[in-house]
Amino acid sequence: MNADGRTRLDQTSEWTALAKHREELGEVQLRELFAADPGRGSAYTLRVGDLYVDYSKHLVTDDTLRLLRELAVATDVSGLRDAMFRGERINTTENRAVLHTALRAPRDAVVEVDGENVVPGVHAVLDKMAAFADRVRSGEWTGHTGKRIRNVVNVGIGGSDLGPAMAYEVLRAFTDRSLTVRFVSNVDGADLHEAIRDLDPAETLFVIASKTFTTIETVTNATSARAWLLDALGDEAAVARHFVALSTNAEKVAGFGIDTANMFEFWDWVGGRYSYDSAIGLSLMIAIGPDRFREMLDGFRIVDEHFRTAPPEANVPLLLGLLGIWYGNFHDAQSHAVLPYSHYLSKFTAYLQQLDMESNGKSVDRDGNPVEWQTGPVVWGTPGTNGQHAYYQLIHQGTKLIPADFIGFARPVAELSDQLKAQHDLLMANFFAQTQALAFGKTPEEVRGEGVPEELVPHKTFRGNHPTTTILAPELTPSVLGQLVALYEHKVFVQGAVWNIDSFDQWGVELGKVLAKRVEPALTEGAEVEGLDASTKALVATYRELRGR
Ligand code: F6P
Repeated sequence: MNADGRTRLDQTSEWTALAKHREELGEVQLRELFAADPGRGSAYTLRVGDLYVDYSKHLVTDDTLRLLRELAVATDVSGLRDAMFRGERINTTENRAVLHTALRAPRDAVVEVDGENVVPGVHAVLDKMAAFADRVRSGEWTGHTGKRIRNVVNVGIGGSDLGPAMAYEVLRAFTDRSLTVRFVSNVDGADLHEAIRDLDPAETLFVIASKTFTTIETVTNATSARAWLLDALGDEAAVARHFVALSTNAEKVAGFGIDTANMFEFWDWVGGRYSYDSAIGLSLMIAIGPDRFREMLDGFRIVDEHFRTAPPEANVPLLLGLLGIWYGNFHDAQSHAVLPYSHYLSKFTAYLQQLDMESNGKSVDRDGNPVEWQTGPVVWGTPGTNGQHAYYQLIHQGTKLIPADFIGFARPVAELSDQLKAQHDLLMANFFAQTQALAFGKTPEEVRGEGVPEELVPHKTFRGNHPTTTILAPELTPSVLGQLVALYEHKVFVQGAVWNIDSFDQWGVELGKVLAKRVEPALTEGAEVEGLDASTKALVATYRELRGR
């Protein structure tokens, strides 16, 4: 029982039924599950939009799935989902609505926050972004000296960087190749240096992306970018042609010296890690054009509608969320790998790290009670074939249970040469082979049957039984990207709802920020800073010595 009289999640009958079921299943083998049900490979699949989702290689039976769905009912996942779509303030610790779904609502939709329909505002900003993107792409928007803009540098961090940077990589084949688009996030000056060192300031547009416009990394980099520009162009008036802002904070934008006419607005009901389909996507929109951006929003919307309306048995984000709970809470899995078989998805997992880990890395529930169960997993991974030659060994033969998502595409992107397109089947052969090997392994008998000497048999045996989800789409398009991102957004939502945590705040990043501010004068001026522990004091002293201060 919680202090407030509510039954603790892990004491509910639905949770204990799952724990009992887990015990009964014991070390159930995927080989057995597939042998017992020849139809499993097609029965345990779902479709949403263009995504074909195979969950047959999971350590689950029909009973497991039923019990997991019962847990979702008991924790009222659908109730919280509907409250989110309705615009209620479900981010309780920040007292905010959570309405990234309104960012992709159709023009005629009505979504109200405090009695005000937010959809017209969303489309007004999208239209303003589209007009601006078109002007930059066509060359109509020029720099201060009249030169055409050829470079776009997005300056932001966290949700104001990871989303657009990821999506730009994913959709590279759809970008205007005559534009150079770069993303600067790190306060390490090397990041900005490398991004601008070969650019002509007169041809460069800085897009300063910050929801709050107070984030120290972004403000510092933006200030340095302005100095670099003014150093070259020598006229304050140049800022208006070379800087635009994406923010909720008009006052701070104006204070920085950016004309608010060149500000693209969003709202406090858009969480940073849920924001790249808002104004935060401007650099992406300039790169791919407004039409492609809208196709991406359509993709998001397909999955939003599915999540909102599909029955529990067919609801893909619900299923993926519940499978994660099955492993994290009932198999003690600590991490979750996301392994895309597409070079273009190289930043996808890094994006998901913020989405998932900043959302569900929590240890108190919505009411402030400590949670007694595992919450969000460590999310990690890189494109699949590269991972195969690095860390897959541990997934195959290590001691840890690591559920993994495999994401692949039937067709290579259109612009590859025929020669390079032909490589796609080899890529995908690896994709299919890996989930097969992970699920079914290789028994000692099979190894012996190959004539392997007895002493090597244990080394060449693959235990198998490693659970994976396979997500297969026809082709990597803007819409498919939107579908994939919305799928993970809602999966994270489901898990937070079951765990009864606030998936939309991020207080855990605050302490480090405060301490960094406090410690900085000790580094720069050798100031006596109160409250430094002995280890940090010694480290600071050594740093100053090595820095030559
Ligand atoms: O890392 C904390 C955080 O607040 C993220 O949630 C956010 O995406 C990021 O900082 C950047 O914030 P802003 O867009 O306000 O600069």
